[in-house]
Amino acid sequence: MTWKRVGPLAELPSGRGVRIDAPGHRVALFRVDDAVYAVGDRCSHAEASLAEGPLFDLSVECPRHGSEFDLATGDPSGLPATKPVPTYETRVDDGVVYLDLPEDTP
Ligand code: FES
Repeated sequence: MTWKRVGPLAELPSGRGVRIDAPGHRVALFRVDDAVYAVGDRCSHAEASLAEGPLFDLSVECPRHGSEFDLATGDPSGLPATKPVPTYETRVDDGVVYLDLPEDTP
């Protein structure tokens, strides 16, 4: 488990995604009120960037073909995507967001 410091929660936009690039990981981060969710940024269907998709409650819609992914589980709710995207743990300490990037997950 490797915690990466993302930055202040107050500077994370609400209602839209932010893409985080780190060695071996491309992550889409979403702030929903004071909670932060992180899923793999590459859509499991054809690799569109989920950080660029619109947010609906606790799911993000792929901007290319419209599958929605649950931010908590990574599961798609409908076609054309059939496979989940990875999810990542996040935490907020003293107003700073951290993201857990497992070393063995590409
Ligand atoms: S690329 Fe995301 S649903 Fe097709």
